[in-house]
Amino acid sequence: MPFPQTRSRRLRGSPALRHMVTETRLPVESLIYPLFVAPGKGVRNPVSSMPEVFQLSVDELVKEAQQAHDLGISMINLFGVPDKKDLTGKLAADPDGLIPQAIRAVKKAVPGLLVMTDVCLCDWLEHGHCGLVKDGAILNDETLPVLASMAMAHAKAGVDMVSPSDMMDGRVAAIRRELDAGGFSHLPIMAYSAKYASGFYGPFREAAQSAPQFGDRAGYQMDPANAREALREVLQDVAESADIVMVKPAMPYLDIIHQVKAATNIPVAAYQVSGEYSMMWAAHQKGWLDLDRVMMESLIGIRRAGADVILTYFAKRVAKKLRGEK
Ligand code: PBG
Repeated sequence: MPFPQTRSRRLRGSPALRHMVTETRLPVESLIYPLFVAPGKGVRNPVSSMPEVFQLSVDELVKEAQQAHDLGISMINLFGVPDKKDLTGKLAADPDGLIPQAIRAVKKAVPGLLVMTDVCLCDWLEHGHCGLVKDGAILNDETLPVLASMAMAHAKAGVDMVSPSDMMDGRVAAIRRELDAGGFSHLPIMAYSAKYASGFYGPFREAAQSAPQFGDRAGYQMDPANAREALREVLQDVAESADIVMVKPAMPYLDIIHQVKAATNIPVAAYQVSGEYSMMWAAHQKGWLDLDRVMMESLIGIRRAGADVILTYFAKRVAKKLRGEK
């Protein structure tokens, strides 16, 4: 029925009506809050390119985790910012290392909060690549057992989910085998399946001190031009028994999130990465954008594209906003 009988504005007439017909929501339970863990005590180092983001020592991390849990956030994701790195990755797989200590402390203090960990070597290797390197080349297959033992170290410390972000071929299967053999067949894997070689990771590399010291990550992360390849990566990870697949970054890849949602029947995650966070903050600080509005709009857009779960540095800010605080 054309105008004047049909009027789309009828259902926009009041806040209650608009709320009733909202197609997409952003429940606090869908958010995962990424945090950076550093050695020491009482450490709360601001990350200059990421306002309100800090490198936290384990004692400070516990306070942050408690706050997040009190705000209704379901899960945190831990990245390590170690003070020692080597060329083997054995520090990443140390059962008493920084991340296992952090897992134990948070699970003890805030048992209701789910803890997920990043499984990748870039923070732990001197050259900052995500895999072992020999003569300038990434050693894919040699990296897999190191990733698997890193995941095992986290499992033994009580982690609730592990999340490989390295983009080596075969890592999901390698981690699954190791976890199953070690008595952790119940532990889910969230795989960074379609992870693009992105300029939007810039601020993270400051936060995690993980910038590659030579070359770039284009030999293992995906070409931003490719969509069909993302589906191949996702289906491969599903075949290797990933429990959740992830697309990363989020905002420039909404079409990929949408296609991945249609191509799979397991939950889909999206990572609103550091550069997405920092550019909204920077524009806000210049008075060019309203931060809370673009924060909510960007996250609703990611949900509308098909993300069930979103990793975002805005998690606490969103949780407060959803409660009407601030
Ligand atoms: C590294 C890793 C990166 C991010 C998560 N895990 C950076 C990279 O690949 O260089 C980026 C997260 C962000 O930018 O917020 N394995």
